Amino acid sequence: MFKVVPIVVFLFISISINEITTNETMKNITSGFLKVLDDCKHELNLSENVLADMYHFWKADHALLHRDTGCAIVCMSKKLNLLDTSGKLHHGNAQEFAVNHGAASDMASKLVSVVHECEQKHDAEEDPCLRALEIAKCFREVMHEMNWAPRMDIIISEVLTEI
Ligand SMILES: *[C@@H]1O[C@H](CO)[C@@H](O)[C@H](O)[C@H]1NC(C)=O
Ligand SMILES: *[C@@H]1O[C@H](CO)[C@@H](O)[C@H](O)[C@H]1NC(C)=O
Ligand SMILES: *[C@@H]1O[C@H](CO)[C@@H](O)[C@H](O)[C@H]1NC(C)=O
Repeated sequence: MFKVVPIVVFLFISISINEITTNETMKNITSGFLKVLDDCKHELNLSENVLADMYHFWKADHALLHRDTGCAIVCMSKKLNLLDTSGKLHHGNAQEFAVNHGAASDMASKLVSVVHECEQKHDAEEDPCLRALEIAKCFREVMHEMNWAPRMDIIISEVLTEI
């Protein structure tokens, strides 16, 4: 009985540490992704609606409605070399992107497989912008289910100070 307690305490501590570092890493990955938003904004002449969609991306109750937001996601992914020639996620590059932003390799693999599953779910959507939007929503939903979603206020303050 008494021997079990320290193990339980240890597990509890490592689980909570894991949760914190995972969302911190997701924050870092999101910030890295948002770094090219400004370029795409000028390139695509994006409206403020799209920027608001991006800034509030991780809020579960923020509806991502604008087709342009999907186009922005495609543009940003291309700039970061995250897509292959057919417009699908480039698994190797995406894995590397996550690792370069602080993800452990198993976390990076998980992220890649979630995006891949979301891609397959929305394969029927022909419009690349709308497809990217659906994939983004699907990805966000899974991240919230896994408790990996970072807090948006922290990302916003960081992105705003960097742009
Ligand atoms: C950019 O968008 C604004 C508002 O949507 C529009 O008035 C303007 O003509 C557009 N500029 C270009 C270069 O497309
Ligand atoms: C966040 O990402 C940058 C690359 O943009 C990387 O240099 C840095 O180590 C990462 N920070 C953490 C805490 O993983
Ligand atoms: C990560 O989660 C912890 C606990 O919920 C929270 O205190 C922290 O602010 C979060 N960090 C980010 C970047 O979302």
